[in-house]
Amino acid sequence: MERTELFKRSIGEDTDVVHKEMYTLTTESGKSYSLRPEATAGVMRAYIEKALNASTQVARLFTTGPMFRHERPQKGRLRQFHQINCECIGSQSPYADADMICMLLHFLRAINVRDVALELNSLGCAECRPKFTSALKDYFSHIASDELCEDCRRRITSNPLRVLDCKNERCKAHVAKAPVIADFLCQACTDHFSVVTETLKAENIAYHQNPNLVRGLDYYTRTTFEVVSTGIGSQSAVAGGGRYDGLIKALGGPDVPGIGFACGMERLAMLMEKKEPPRPDFFMAVLEPDAFPRAFALIQELRTNGLKGCMNLQPQSVKSVFRQADKSLATYCLILGSDELAQNAVTVKSMSTSSQTTIAQDALVQHLQEALKKG
Ligand code: HAM
Repeated sequence: MERTELFKRSIGEDTDVVHKEMYTLTTESGKSYSLRPEATAGVMRAYIEKALNASTQVARLFTTGPMFRHERPQKGRLRQFHQINCECIGSQSPYADADMICMLLHFLRAINVRDVALELNSLGCAECRPKFTSALKDYFSHIASDELCEDCRRRITSNPLRVLDCKNERCKAHVAKAPVIADFLCQACTDHFSVVTETLKAENIAYHQNPNLVRGLDYYTRTTFEVVSTGIGSQSAVAGGGRYDGLIKALGGPDVPGIGFACGMERLAMLMEKKEPPRPDFFMAVLEPDAFPRAFALIQELRTNGLKGCMNLQPQSVKSVFRQADKSLATYCLILGSDELAQNAVTVKSMSTSSQTTIAQDALVQHLQEALKKG
């Protein structure tokens, strides 16, 4: 929870998040608090409160936890969800932008989220943005007011950038023909953005430049980005972020720039669920009550050597033990029955080809490691 005022001043009063989606309460003494709809505002409040700029030139901070937005729930859109939030505060360099984007993409790759695309835009700065917003005002003021939704009619004067973010189909049709920010960027913003895009290209990172990517929060300047996926229905943004150079100053802190992003954990989990679970290397099928002590020692040795798997834990019918082996999806079934026990051996059966071979117990680790390497 934070003071409501913090969210109004950072995210912006005219955003959907603040205007419609906050859970707010007023205390008996009249103070207003809101459950945090996102983490950035609170991180900035803490940065200022602890004067982190005095001890670190560039503060790299992260936080994870629940966020709350009173949205209409649907697949991938929850009223309580969780974010992984990262901020890099203290650098104006475009390499900070490219670094944050690369880190996010590395992270997504590491957790096996692959079918995603990067959307990129620049929203300009305090110097060039006003020229763009006045061009937008001019453009929208020539559109009949019943052609736009009620919110957008208000936004034309209060915050025309928000019109670009409207989900209403009729508004979207007019947005498609609206002026684009790229035509209004000042030289400094153009140069900044071109270092970001060139750095991404050098890293072979594909991106789509989306002039309508204004994001739903008011604090952004220059680079904005989203990572979108086609695998989670209409709520396609897995992560989003951007630069917020004037934010800390506007909240009463020092004039320190920053850039950050947040991932939605539930959306990440939806994409990760689609991946096949990793297969164990082996299932030890213990077919004789007398074989348990030997089997137990063998699976400990296999695991010590980095192989994954388990065994049936009590005597059962052969059929039932093999059913467990099938269900485990293991690559190899290691059979330990009375014959194998007598010969200090194990029968190794490939679960994909059903071919089997008998191996001395003391050669089992090496045999399995080599067989798994060959695939
Ligand atoms: P955001 O785009 O509002 O950005 O949210 C980031 C991510 O949180 C979204 O891409 C999505 O995955 C997830 N998310 C948002 N709303 C919901 C919801 N109702 N249900 C499930 N997941 C959701 C921010 O919050 C910024 N604070 C990011 C940032 C950090 N910008 C700079 N630093």
